[in-house]
Amino acid sequence: MENTNMIEVRNLSKYFKALKAVDDISFTVKKGEIFGLLGPNGAGKSTTLRILSTLSRPTSGKATINGYDIVKNDNKVRELLGIVSEKMIVYDRLTAKENLWFFGCLYGIPKEKLNKRVADLLELANLTPFKDKQVGTFSTGMRQRINVIRALLNDPQVLFLDEPTLGLDPQSSVEIRDFIKNLNKEKGTTLIITTHMMVDADILCDRIAIVDHGKIIALDTSANLKRATVGDNTLIIKLAISNLTGEMVTKLKELSCVDAVIQENEMQLRVVVHGENAFDEILDTVRSMKGKISSMENLQPTLEDVFLHMTGRHVRDVLEAKAPQQMRPHGMRKPQRGR
Ligand SMILES: Nc1ncnc2c1ncn2[C@@H]1O[C@H](COP(=O)(O)OP(=O)(O)OP(=O)(O)O)[C@@H](O)[C@H]1O
Ligand SMILES: [Mg+2]
Repeated sequence: MENTNMIEVRNLSKYFKALKAVDDISFTVKKGEIFGLLGPNGAGKSTTLRILSTLSRPTSGKATINGYDIVKNDNKVRELLGIVSEKMIVYDRLTAKENLWFFGCLYGIPKEKLNKRVADLLELANLTPFKDKQVGTFSTGMRQRINVIRALLNDPQVLFLDEPTLGLDPQSSVEIRDFIKNLNKEKGTTLIITTHMMVDADILCDRIAIVDHGKIIALDTSANLKRATVGDNTLIIKLAISNLTGEMVTKLKELSCVDAVIQENEMQLRVVVHGENAFDEILDTVRSMKGKISSMENLQPTLEDVFLHMTGRHVRDVLEAKAPQQMRPHGMRKPQRGR
């Protein structure tokens, strides 16, 4: 990954009447980086991608892609990027090759160039053996691969993927994830991905921005986010002798490195600790009471722990705190965005 910025976003906002869908966000994405946008429903992820791909105009703020302003140089920006939106766009009655030809012609790519391009992309997606099969006969994962390479026809340097594994089974998700990783590695494509799949974000993204109510509330690598937000460690301690469990809970709670102790059953404690000496202090305490530990497991925080810690546990209803004109019943097409 190079150190130059491919995408620069400065104080970008988008209001829909009183609703701040995107609220003063700033971030940069390095050339060749895979950047993740995570956030609850309605957080403003798709709106951000729509603005960056010139499909919607910002209310205020500025963004550039490879130095080109997304408003003033929108044509140039469009040449540089591909977008895979939330909705899959493939034609089931056409073959894989015909689908790509159709969209290639829409892009105005000359025939000889398009021939080679389609063949290369089918190869990249491991779909060459299926090139003459109707897309309607494909698995969802294969269809999504066609959907993604469709956005690569113009050889974009930047690709935006809005929930690329939405509705895919675990096998197809892994397939798409590997494909995205490979694309980034082979071609050095800069990627912004939105997803609700924490595993995908964890495995794919070099850095992750957590967005909520239109604002970026955290931005770092997955490892740093886990360290910084969850900070504490949770230990699962299995005791070999049960008669001291109650007493042990009281004693452990007195330790300065211990934040909480939950007795999960007669023989098992869940202990939330902080600090480097926590292990030793707990062992010393248990030994001093003539207790015995049969196992101690350190539960590492997951990206999901970080996400829930930062965005809370309540479900974001689509109708939550919105003026009537901004309501969008679940499952309905989003309203056509004005520019
Ligand atoms: N054209 C529009 N007119 C009015 N409100 C809109 C419009 N587009 C988006 N919104 C609202 O802006 C907010 C952000 O929507 P957006 O689609 O960007 O969220 P998201 O993070 O992509 O959510 P999801 O995870 O559900 O895809 C939501 O409250 C949405 O209803
Ligand atoms: Mg969205």
